[in-house]
Amino acid sequence: MERVEVRELLKDLVVLRVLDKNIRYFESLWEIPEGVTYNSYVLRTREGSILFDTVKHSFSEEYVDALKRVVDLRDIKYVVIQHMEPDHSSSLKTLSTLSEFRAEVLGHPLTAKLIKSLLGVDVKFRPVKDGEELRLGDTVLKFIHAPWLHWPETIFTYVEELRALMTCDAFGAYSIPPHVISDLTYLRTQYVRFMRKYFVNIIGHYRDNVIKALNKLAALNLGLELVAPSHGAAFLGTNTINEVLKLYRSWAEGRSENKKLVILYTSMYGYNEEIIEKLLGMIKRDDIRVEVFKFTSEHRDNISDFLGEVIDARVIVLVTSTYDNSVFPITKYLLELLLAKSNTEKPLYIITTYGWNDAASREIRNILEKSKFKLSGELSVNSLLTEADLQKLSNVSKEILTLLEH
Ligand SMILES: Cc1cc2nc3c(=O)[nH]c(=O)nc-3n(C[C@H](O)[C@H](O)[C@H](O)COP(=O)(O)O)c2cc1C
Ligand SMILES: [Fe+2]
Ligand SMILES: [Fe+2]
Repeated sequence: MERVEVRELLKDLVVLRVLDKNIRYFESLWEIPEGVTYNSYVLRTREGSILFDTVKHSFSEEYVDALKRVVDLRDIKYVVIQHMEPDHSSSLKTLSTLSEFRAEVLGHPLTAKLIKSLLGVDVKFRPVKDGEELRLGDTVLKFIHAPWLHWPETIFTYVEELRALMTCDAFGAYSIPPHVISDLTYLRTQYVRFMRKYFVNIIGHYRDNVIKALNKLAALNLGLELVAPSHGAAFLGTNTINEVLKLYRSWAEGRSENKKLVILYTSMYGYNEEIIEKLLGMIKRDDIRVEVFKFTSEHRDNISDFLGEVIDARVIVLVTSTYDNSVFPITKYLLELLLAKSNTEKPLYIITTYGWNDAASREIRNILEKSKFKLSGELSVNSLLTEADLQKLSNVSKEILTLLEH
């Protein structure tokens, strides 16, 4: 099956989209059974073509073949490298070895060094300043520095005549969606979870920079018609784009606009599972959405999904055990990622269990001290639930319901 798709999105703007369906762990870290795409864009003008980003190295050969069907490589005047992470930059290495390739490479001033250190090639490079414009015939490009979305050297490029903004990782998503999304319902019901998951996994650590970039875009008042990221779908039309910008702001701010409870639990021999069953029975309400992520001897949910769901949750509950005089190791790892990627002021309840000494609770409190999370309640259970524990659990569940309803 073809792994590179070529589609004209707007007049003379073509996307070359690589489908990576076999990847298991994005960045060797994030479980993505839904797959991912790498999108490179070509803008054809009368004076020559402009290439925006490339694709992951393992697809270079097919990508270059597809590119040759879209443009004559000799006609590529510029390659804009908007981000140096190899999922977007590494096919520049292949291109640079071809005799027909004569393009000048444009990017953030920091990009020159990264081309050397990550790709090890010499290219004709020209740094672009924030706000700098470049004209090619009737085409005007405006470069917008967007540091830390997702690396320090990230830039966006605005194509004036198309009112199109090329954004690389920002506004990207996992999955293999349609090439273009203009349907708000589809965006809100089907696509949003892949966007949110990608957002938290990849740029969740840089949420302050997301807000800076959104404010910068708002001040530029670009009147966008197309937003074209390098993963997932492009967004067409003002309504869709405004919704995407709104979603990004709300995730960056860690807002919770719904009655969503996220529960994470681990259970080695079923003691915590018993607590979960009781707790779920106590909080069952039709208007409340509960997402449960579990780590047991039969099942392991995806950490990538947990992080994606937690960012817009109203309340988080963590149920885990004491292990070797500390907290269960998977929980420690999950907490580390939670703090790095989704550190928000959300209320968090912890229920820890133990055999002889509740070291889990002490360790979790230590970890959370450095976070923004509000430790709203704690329950410590000596393995089997007692009547007194059940009463405390019932009180905790009432508190959680009150939080969810407000
Ligand atoms: C491998 C292992 C290590 C444990 N280490 C500790 C420990 O260091 N301190 C302690 O108080 N309990 C320890 N426990 C007891 C568990 O924390 C306790 O029984 C808990 O309720 C188990 O819940 P779960 O089976 O749902 O994971 C350990 C249990 C196991 C299986
Ligand atoms: Fe990236
Ligand atoms: Fe990327």
